[in-house]
Amino acid sequence: MSDIALISGSSNLPLAYKLSKELKVDLTPVEIRKFPDSEKYVRIDGDVAGKDVVIVQSMAFKPDEYLIETFLLASAAKDAGAKSITLAAAYFPYARQDERFKPGEPISVAVVAHLLNSVGIDKLITVDVHKHRVLDFESIFKGKWIDVSVMPALAKYARQAGLIDKDTYIIGPDSEAISWAKTAAESLGIKSYAALKKKRLGDTEVTITGDVDLKGKKVFIVDDIISTGGTIIEATKVIREAGGEVTGVACAHGLFVNEALYKIYKEGIENVISSDTVPNQTTRVSSAEALSKGILEILK
Ligand code: R5P
Repeated sequence: MSDIALISGSSNLPLAYKLSKELKVDLTPVEIRKFPDSEKYVRIDGDVAGKDVVIVQSMAFKPDEYLIETFLLASAAKDAGAKSITLAAAYFPYARQDERFKPGEPISVAVVAHLLNSVGIDKLITVDVHKHRVLDFESIFKGKWIDVSVMPALAKYARQAGLIDKDTYIIGPDSEAISWAKTAAESLGIKSYAALKKKRLGDTEVTITGDVDLKGKKVFIVDDIISTGGTIIEATKVIREAGGEVTGVACAHGLFVNEALYKIYKEGIENVISSDTVPNQTTRVSSAEALSKGILEILK
């Protein structure tokens, strides 16, 4: 087994502690603070020479700050003689700008991947990353990139909570979400899963259509991210119009911006669950086990 030095950024310490338990590796002490002018200072207070350094970050809400912190930590580890540098990015930022939707825009996810490479990060682990248009990870990140999933853990929790049974239909709200619906369904041995079709009209507005026969069916919705809640609310309307009953919703990353959760509950969607990549009041399962398996796999 490789000699791992586990380093936590400041974004999600509880997750880093859980990961440290899963891996049975103590966290290497780090000092992370801000200079009076707001610039970041980091220092690795441990020996990482010759070790496989794993940096844990989950970069929601303050992506720019956490990215800079990650660049500085990786660079310090590299300078200190780390054998390899893995970033365990529980929430990977800028993943949704994975295309030049309008002329003049950058492909932000490729820029971030390139910058991670440039500071010596040669391995990347993500959790249910938004990879709708970037199907070939190697084209944007030079090194190994493994995406692990919390969908089986969320599906298991939902079954135990009585939100899913063997006859439940698992639905993804857009065509790209079919992979999460499939993973969740198959992990429970459920055969009925499908995806609706979504058209995004703006940052918060979407239209959803679908032609799945859901008459009399119980339906559980899964998606990678819930941000404004617009997607889940529109998907629920379509499912109800098709005669289905939404028993609950699961997402890997619950951002819930602008009172999204309130809007979702107001729509009569009572059971919402998510993982701890972005800790929030709907968090029911941890991503630590999936991440630790990914880390051991990528370091083989
Ligand atoms: C985008 O396609 C993603 O998979 C999610 O469906 C999206 O990010 C959800 O955003 P919102 O909650 O703002 O509709």
